[in-house]
Amino acid sequence: MKLNIALLAGDGIGPEVIDQAVKVSNAVAFKFGHEITWNTALTGAAAIDAAGEPYPDETHQICVNADAVLFGAIGHPRFDNDPSAKVRPEQGLLKMRQKLGLFANVRPTFTFPSLIDRSPLKRERIEGTNLVFLRELTGGIYFGKRGRLNNGETAFDTCTYHRSEVQRIAKKGFELAMKRSKRLCCVDKANVLESSRLWRETVQTMEKDYPEVEVSYEFVDAVAMRLVQWPNEYDVLITENLFGDILTDEASVISGSMGLMPSASVGEKAKLYEPIHGSYPQAAGKDIANPLATVLSAAMMFEDFDLTDEAQAIRNVVNKSLTEGIVTEDLAQNGKAHKTSEVGDWLALHI
Ligand SMILES: NC(=O)c1ccc[n+]([C@@H]2O[C@H](COP(=O)([O-])OP(=O)(O)OC[C@H]3O[C@@H](n4cnc5c(N)ncnc54)[C@H](O)[C@@H]3O)[C@@H](O)[C@H]2O)c1
Repeated sequence: MKLNIALLAGDGIGPEVIDQAVKVSNAVAFKFGHEITWNTALTGAAAIDAAGEPYPDETHQICVNADAVLFGAIGHPRFDNDPSAKVRPEQGLLKMRQKLGLFANVRPTFTFPSLIDRSPLKRERIEGTNLVFLRELTGGIYFGKRGRLNNGETAFDTCTYHRSEVQRIAKKGFELAMKRSKRLCCVDKANVLESSRLWRETVQTMEKDYPEVEVSYEFVDAVAMRLVQWPNEYDVLITENLFGDILTDEASVISGSMGLMPSASVGEKAKLYEPIHGSYPQAAGKDIANPLATVLSAAMMFEDFDLTDEAQAIRNVVNKSLTEGIVTEDLAQNGKAHKTSEVGDWLALHI
């Protein structure tokens, strides 16, 4: 297969972790007889510096013309520490999601057998966890009307959803549940929020189209608690943008490190694969960040092209590296911490 992939490294550790995902993807392509063309483009602070805006049109065109996008992370302390900055890297992320129509963020959460005891949660609670969050990504409070009133003394953000936005992500949730254990949990706050009541009502009306799927409805505060108590009771969870943002970071604790969690952001057409972590500026340029989240995001990309063996080859080699202790400092225990680039080289060599 010939694949044309847009490569958006972004800021901070983005370029370092992306380099490792490219090495591993190229090794997989070589082994299975595929050809990948990588088209690099700027985003985030790097794009602001070069082009004055965080998601330039040129970058958008490269993404639109690609079969998929592999993305690192954006964000820079220069902007984080300047609340008055008019142009910010994160605006590029929101613009990219909106312009590419990436309305669903797919975030699997699973445990790695060799790392179970590294989680702050007890082994018996997390063993066997294998759940997927579908977080709505282009609506809700992050995109709603916001502003200041009363000379800046009052601030507001609004959470707005249209029924069609809920339907399209719920459809993805039902379809995913059908491919897995046929269990779907709709996470909302329908006891308080009108937007949540729309979510619940919409999902309820869709239940009849998927009679085999067992649907549960839970309040977000209860899920926040149960997620760390009994994570293996969940399978597919759908939720709105803000709740999903918070719950998926919480869920990363189950796996043991932010540096391990991959994700896919998908729409009707476009597909983008990205680690769930940010640009981790403290580690930028030090060759110490964990590249596995990005490498596993590349595995999700292969899977979505129906290249299942290729995806599995990546997951197998990642598991092997963890078992053999070829890990970066966030996972090193009484042993040697390997550099980001060393982990990438090892993975590519062992594919
Ligand atoms: N999708 C994105 O691009 C994205 C997401 C979140 C945050 N951000 C941006 O990233 C910047 C830093 O934000 P933050 O510190 O809140 O989040 P972060 O994810 O960058 O880092 C939080 C912590 O997680 C750990 N971590 C993250 N990635 C790791 C990796 N690959 N290997 C090992 N440990 C890792 C580190 O302990 C780090 O201190 C900010 O500018 C923020 O806006 C971007």
